[in-house]
Amino acid sequence: MFKCDHKFIATSVAALVLGSTPVFASSAKKNALDGGMTYSRDRGMYSVYNINEQDTKGMNHGRTPTANELKAWDTDIMPDGTGLPEGKGSVEEGDEIYEEQCGVCHGDFGAGGVGYPTLSGGSMDSLTNQRTAPGMDAPKRTIGTYWPQASTLIWYIRDAMPYAHPKSLSNDEIYALTAYLLAANEIKVDGKEMDDDFVLSKDNFSKIKMPNEDGFYPNINGKDGVENVRKFFKDGKNYGAVGKRCMKNCKDDNATVMRIGIEMKDVNPAYSTVRDLVPVDNSNAHPGKAGYEANCAVCHATDKMGAPALGSKSDWDKVMEKGTTKVMMNAINGVGSMPPKGGNSDLTEWQMQMIVDYMISNSK
Ligand code: HEC
Ligand code: HEC
Repeated sequence: MFKCDHKFIATSVAALVLGSTPVFASSAKKNALDGGMTYSRDRGMYSVYNINEQDTKGMNHGRTPTANELKAWDTDIMPDGTGLPEGKGSVEEGDEIYEEQCGVCHGDFGAGGVGYPTLSGGSMDSLTNQRTAPGMDAPKRTIGTYWPQASTLIWYIRDAMPYAHPKSLSNDEIYALTAYLLAANEIKVDGKEMDDDFVLSKDNFSKIKMPNEDGFYPNINGKDGVENVRKFFKDGKNYGAVGKRCMKNCKDDNATVMRIGIEMKDVNPAYSTVRDLVPVDNSNAHPGKAGYEANCAVCHATDKMGAPALGSKSDWDKVMEKGTTKVMMNAINGVGSMPPKGGNSDLTEWQMQMIVDYMISNSK
């Protein structure tokens, strides 16, 4: 039986169906279906994923989007200004909205919070630091030190922030927030620093000068940016590629498929080969194992206390005659001399489900 990490599947499937209406959303099937995977749903919770062999022949996720659906998604704000909305907002207005809606995660003035990206500060010098060289700080990639284009900033804010309810900001608000974050990064517009009264709009957007705009190649800035990139990738010599491009039946034509030929050997300082983290062997860790050992093993390791013993097929076959749902409910609410959640009320239903799955799958 095939089991895998739920979170990973959920995210990759979310990515795959992005932009199209997933056909399984309204499926009359009782079980949820993600691509080639089906997995049972029990009281609104997903159980361990299993490959559904009938469904692995086709992809079964999404459908071709209609022209209108595509149009609704095709709303990039491009470096050349294409897609910039009407509207305007000042640094000062942005400051207020930022404090209300963004600072809680990104910190005052974008200085960073616990676990959330830092939006200002850092230095361009740090960009050449090597992450893997011990004793050296990682590069500090912020809007001011790293981002080559301000269009990405306004686009990102419009489509992705605030984190919990994206697309909730008005056009004026996204201009104001962009202006505020640029100002917090001391970025110049038309050669001048932005003061509190500075108003950003479609009209002056192209005058923003991002400090790292020349830090990338090919040059992706300005109105020829997209063309530059196309030209660059058209000629494999630009990036040391050998062979030829292949989009169809490439494995039949293996010898000639284009490969990147540049080796990473001119990195300075050189990448460190030191790997000092102790390797962790997760190969047989079930997500319920640790919880079982901490909370349940005391009674379930043997049948001495009248509990179905881990590893005993006959004990668990008898238990499972009641059906998974009932057994889960009993584990959560208690049954006979089994206390609710094994006596640890801090365990979530999800953790309980993982633990019970661990017990069942190790008693077959
Ligand atoms: C609940 C926390 C939260 C709030 C509130 C929030 N953000 Fe974010 N923000 C995040 C997280 C998490 C990421 C990283 C997302 C990712 O990489 O997928 C992020 C990323 C960003 C980035 C990109 C940073 C980078 O370097 O990649 C910008 C810009 C940004 N947020 C702006 C804003 C603005 C403006 C607001 C207010 C309107 C806001 N955020 C509110 C959590 C938050
Ligand atoms: C204090 C001892 C004790 C602890 C701790 C304990 N159990 Fe039990 N458990 C029992 C006993 C006794 C039974 C048999 C109850 C019965 O059928 O009357 C049982 C039965 C069960 C059953 C079968 C329920 C059914 O429908 O027959 C499950 C599932 C279960 N326990 C899960 C757990 C889990 C998960 C934990 C830890 C989070 C746990 N137990 C901790 C004593 C314990």
